[in-house]
Amino acid sequence: MTAPTQQYAVFGQPIAHSLSPRIHTAFARQLGIAMEYRAIEASADSFVAELARFADAGGRGANITLPLKAIAARLCLRLSDRARRADSVNTLLREGAGWYGDSTDGTGLVRDITERHHLDLRERRTLLLGAGGAARAAAFALFDAGIAELTIANRTPERADVLADVIGAPGRVHTRYWDDLGQWGAYDLVVNATSAGHDGHDLDLPRSLVAPRTLCYDLSYGKAAIGFLAWARSAGAEQALDGLGMLVEQAAESFVLWHGQRPDTEPVYAELRAYVPGDAED
Ligand code: ATR
Repeated sequence: MTAPTQQYAVFGQPIAHSLSPRIHTAFARQLGIAMEYRAIEASADSFVAELARFADAGGRGANITLPLKAIAARLCLRLSDRARRADSVNTLLREGAGWYGDSTDGTGLVRDITERHHLDLRERRTLLLGAGGAARAAAFALFDAGIAELTIANRTPERADVLADVIGAPGRVHTRYWDDLGQWGAYDLVVNATSAGHDGHDLDLPRSLVAPRTLCYDLSYGKAAIGFLAWARSAGAEQALDGLGMLVEQAAESFVLWHGQRPDTEPVYAELRAYVPGDAED
C-alpha cells in the first residue's frame, strides 16, 4: 500500500486569491515530492478549530497569513528563535501532538533583496513604515542583515515606540512622527510594512525621503503595492521593489523546513511575475 499523500495548507482570511498553493505545488513538482497543498479560509475565531480539523485529517504543515500570524505564535508548543522575536508564525510543522512554529517572512525579505536583486543591505540607513506584525518580522531580519540604523514611523506613534523597545538596540533605533518625516532627510532603504494599500489607502509621504541611491521596498505586491511604488518612482528612487519575491522566498524557507530540500525559486518567481505587475526593472 502506498503512503497517504502529505497534506499542507495555507490558512488566512481572505485566502481565495493566495498564491501559496501555486508556489508550493510548483516547488514540489520541481523536486519530485508528492504532496497536496490547499487554501483554507479561517477567521481569528475559527482558526483554532480549523487547524485542529486539518491536523486530525493528517495535516503535516501549514502556512499562516493575515490575520492569524500572532494567534499561530500563541498555539505552538515550540517556536524558532526568529518566530519568538517576531511574535509571529507563518509556518507550522506538526511535531508529535503539537505544532512547531517558525517565521520565514523576514528571511524571505532579506533573501529577495540580497540574492534575487543582488543589493547590499549592509550599512543602509533604513526607514520602516509601520509597526505591526509585518514590520516587526522585517525589523529583526534587516538588523541581522547588517543595516546601519533603523528609524520607525507609524501612524499611531505609540506602536513605533513599543517596537523600538522590543528591538532593544538603543542608539541604532529611532522613532519619528509620521507628520515630521519631511524634516529628517533621505534614507538608503525605505520599507513599507503598513497594510494601507490593502485597504485601498495611499500613504502621504514626502519625496524628500528618497535620494538617487534609495531602495524602496513594499512588503505587499499586486494592487496593494501600486501606490507606494508609484510614489517611490516619482520621488526618484534607484529601485522600487514589491514583495512578490519575498513571498516566493518565504515560501521556499517553509518548504525547506517541511521537506529538507531547497527549491529553485527563480522559475516560480518568473512565472508569477508574468502576471503580477510590479518591479519596474523586471
Ligand atoms: P500586519 O500584520 O500586516 O503588520 P497590523 O499588525 O494590523 O498588520 O499592522 C498594520 C500596520 O499598517 C500598522 O502599522 C498600521 O498603523 P497603526 O498602528 O496606526 O494602525 C499601518 N496602517 C494601516 N493602515 C494605514 C494607513 N492608512 N496609513 C498609515 N498606516 C497604516
